[in-house]
Amino acid sequence: MTTVINNENLPEDAAELFREKVFDYYRNHRRSFPWRETTGRYAVMVSEIMLQQTQAERVREKFILWMERFPDVFSLAAASQREVLALWSGLGYNSRGQRLHFCAKAVVERFGGIVPGDPLVLKNLPGIGEYTSRSIPAFADNLDVAAVDTNIRRIIIHEFTLPDLTKTPDIQRMADRLLPKGRSREWHNALMDYGAQHLTARKTGIRPLTKQSKFQDSRRWYRGRLLKELVEIEQMSLEEVEEKFSSCPWGIGEIITGLVREGFVEETENPYGPGKVLRIKS
Ligand code: ADE
Repeated sequence: MTTVINNENLPEDAAELFREKVFDYYRNHRRSFPWRETTGRYAVMVSEIMLQQTQAERVREKFILWMERFPDVFSLAAASQREVLALWSGLGYNSRGQRLHFCAKAVVERFGGIVPGDPLVLKNLPGIGEYTSRSIPAFADNLDVAAVDTNIRRIIIHEFTLPDLTKTPDIQRMADRLLPKGRSREWHNALMDYGAQHLTARKTGIRPLTKQSKFQDSRRWYRGRLLKELVEIEQMSLEEVEEKFSSCPWGIGEIITGLVREGFVEETENPYGPGKVLRIKS
């Protein structure tokens, strides 16, 4: 029987060899991104949330525009949801944009506008999960914590021949063990470039743990379409929405209910005439 490598039986020279390989790659193939030019926690938070499910090349321009319009946590917290979603448009998954907005409001209310640097504190903020709670202090403060996203998970599984379905806590322990102390920022940048350009999902055949179903994809598409319309034209009567989205296979009503429940849209009296209208929640 072959022994599966873990954080405890991994020899230190194998760990060191891996670090050297990744840093060697980085020396020759590092990518340059606007968020790598800053160590501000707010800017890092913005970029990390944008990068969660969107390719870095698509985030590049958006990040610059975002930082011009919302240069700090206060300007974002004070913005309308409509404006936030308008600027988020093109990045996909509107709920990430919404959560970033909620997060900025929470940082202003609870922490006087200072984005916390402690992963345990960060994790209680909207939009901040296990990965982001670690990646923000790693990139912003060079804190010695290991962040594991789907790319880093894939690298560790491939390099140490772990089973494809290795559980997240086991990967996390490996990542903690592999982290070169005092070089957290550089290490995470290096891993990102190694995973995105060299050890790609296609090359390894290692799939992410979760994938959306076709049904979820289709719901998401209709939700996105409706939100986009409302962001652009400000408000629509319920009749107009029904008509425009008559091709929606399960009725647009269910989509609207979901969007209302999640605080994206509100139904109000039409200020210009009879009936109700939908608009982005203020
Ligand atoms: N994906 C998540 N964080 C990233 C970063 N800092 N650079 C490139 N890709 C990333």
